[in-house]
Amino acid sequence: MPEKIKKIGVFTSGGDAPGMNAAIRSVVRACAYYNIECVGIYRGYEGLMEGDFKPMDARSVRGIINKGGTILKSARSKEFRTKEGRQKAFEKLNEAGVDALVAIGGDGTFTGALVFNEEYGFPVMGIPGTIDNDIVGTSHTLGFDTAQNTVVEAIDKIRDTASSHNRLFFIEVMGRDVGHIALNTGIAGGAEEILIPEEDLGLDRLVDSLNKSRKSGKSSSIVIVAEGDKIGKNIFELKDYVDENMEGYDVRVSVLGHMQRGGSPSCFDRVLASRMGVKAVDSLLEGKSGYMVGLINNAMELTPLDNAIKGKTKINLELLRVSDIMST
Ligand code: F6P
Repeated sequence: MPEKIKKIGVFTSGGDAPGMNAAIRSVVRACAYYNIECVGIYRGYEGLMEGDFKPMDARSVRGIINKGGTILKSARSKEFRTKEGRQKAFEKLNEAGVDALVAIGGDGTFTGALVFNEEYGFPVMGIPGTIDNDIVGTSHTLGFDTAQNTVVEAIDKIRDTASSHNRLFFIEVMGRDVGHIALNTGIAGGAEEILIPEEDLGLDRLVDSLNKSRKSGKSSSIVIVAEGDKIGKNIFELKDYVDENMEGYDVRVSVLGHMQRGGSPSCFDRVLASRMGVKAVDSLLEGKSGYMVGLINNAMELTPLDNAIKGKTKINLELLRVSDIMST
């Protein structure tokens, strides 16, 4: 580890998330505050191996706090998983005089950062950026709040057409392995049922619940389905199942897809990103490395990258119960 960190590189990697730009801005401005240099690394680990670096000063990040996506671009790299790829990256960082890294992304990003840190003793700090909120060591990842708001807005709009036509809508939201987006937006959007990867609620229960709600006088219904839902049927197969097993339901499917990853970050995500960037730079300058910054009980805390990667976030069972009661 260098005696004193003089130049920090920042990059975004994996799936983009609203708030990543605000985090880049925060890292760059914190470096400027401490009078140390900062370089932006383009296209994640791809740019790291190619030396695609650009010096960034405080003014270079103006006007981006409100922008979705990432000005540094993002990529998923296979080559960085190899020893040769990481050696290339190490050489490029040395040539550019970069002596610490801030990696903004999800568990794939952190896995790469941790291996690099262990192999070369290179100082790294992670900032969790993914709409899925599937990282241990923070109550909120960057982009989660904004994505939820985007989904709720979409559900509200779909509800208008669902109730006008007395239809049942299956709405698919992101969450390959976790149901955080589905669970929260399902409650906020008044969904009848919420299907998530963590719990198999079963097809019988789904049919029962839809029958019950129709008997109780509901003319339209919304079911939120996380893309990795445990029932094991994709959203189109769910529609077919209901078509075949229930009479009188006019069913439609809506897959929200990548629109959930875009858009201007919410106030919450902008503030969180600003706090996380400052904490990441502060921690590196204090000589810490191999950690992720996170929000725990409204304070900025560090979690070893290893724990952040290996841990599995838990869904809040209370939310499942609330959702159940709300669909009465
Ligand atoms: O950012 C995480 C995530 O949104 C997952 O929920 C989803 O499965 C995945 O990204 C899709 O990513 P991509 O289209 O970039 O492969």
